[in-house]
Amino acid sequence: MRIGVLTAGGDCPGLNAAIRAVARSAIQQGDEAIGVRRGYQGLAENDYMPLGMQQVTGILHQGGTILSTSSFEPIREGAVDRVAAAFAEQRLDAVVAIGGEHTMEITRQLHADHGLPLVGVPKTIDNDVGGTDYTFGFDTAVQIVTDAIDRLHTTAQSHDRIMVVEVMGRNTGWIAAYAGLAGGADCIVIPEQPTTVEEICRDVTRRHERGKDFSIIVVAEGAKLAFASGDERLIQPVQDSDEYGYPRLGGIGAALAVELEHRTGYETRVTVLGHVQRGGTPTSTDRILATLYGAHAYEMAKAGDFGKMAAIQGTRMTEVPLAEAVQVKQLDLRMLEIAKRFFT
Ligand code: F6P
Repeated sequence: MRIGVLTAGGDCPGLNAAIRAVARSAIQQGDEAIGVRRGYQGLAENDYMPLGMQQVTGILHQGGTILSTSSFEPIREGAVDRVAAAFAEQRLDAVVAIGGEHTMEITRQLHADHGLPLVGVPKTIDNDVGGTDYTFGFDTAVQIVTDAIDRLHTTAQSHDRIMVVEVMGRNTGWIAAYAGLAGGADCIVIPEQPTTVEEICRDVTRRHERGKDFSIIVVAEGAKLAFASGDERLIQPVQDSDEYGYPRLGGIGAALAVELEHRTGYETRVTVLGHVQRGGTPTSTDRILATLYGAHAYEMAKAGDFGKMAAIQGTRMTEVPLAEAVQVKQLDLRMLEIAKRFFT
């Protein structure tokens, strides 16, 4: 078999581990892997690289993607014919598409409507892809945010300050809730369950009353600035959408800090972790998860199990229809309920 591998959408730690796992599985079985550069754009523009032993050696621990990535959409770009032709020209028996929920939707359409032999692998720091328990990249992001919260604790304590930490996650609060719980946050604000400014001020004030003169507030970028009056605002750096049509997010941390300082009188600072959460070396958990995903995707390709996404459910690798991946997976709110026990 000749199997193509591509990475599309935003990068995350673990992509190289997944690429390596597909390629090494193929090599071991006497098959051949080929890298498609810059996501689906590589198929449309004949941009490939070999994925032999030499190319996939020493990349397990590296962040980013050796294949580069893009948000190129063959359907929107009118490039489906070029993509389909690439399978014949390159003698590709299958392509493993590694991406987030948006890439899974493109992959679903290319398979369902055009019969292309595609297998999906979910990746994202947001952990919001449906049909699977965990995406790789998430654990690394959580670790980065947890480290940041640990560091902010010492300076917050020294200065009696409120520290607001804005984290990524798009429309879900997975990173905020997990890192907030791991870091002992005093309040976690997520899109799935609005928390009003008044409620946060109440918790901060209660902490002060019991002798805790600092607070760490973790807020997910997609959370709205909400007030007891019912007024809710999505904060955006610019009133714009990204290349996938999602609203650009960012700024809730600063907006919340202004409100908290003004209402409580406590000095407040903001840290926006931004793309730091997506960079650098993957954790061991993400390396293992990405390797399991890549190995399973190879087996799916080998078995001709197309139009599906590799998934982890519990400790078991399985496969689910690509349509399931497209349902945004929200945080299980029981996680937040437990975190709340530690807020005041
Ligand atoms: O989906 C991953 C993610 O990092 C989100 O958490 C974030 O909202 C978005 O991508 C940022 O996208 P960009 O890299 O285009 O700024």
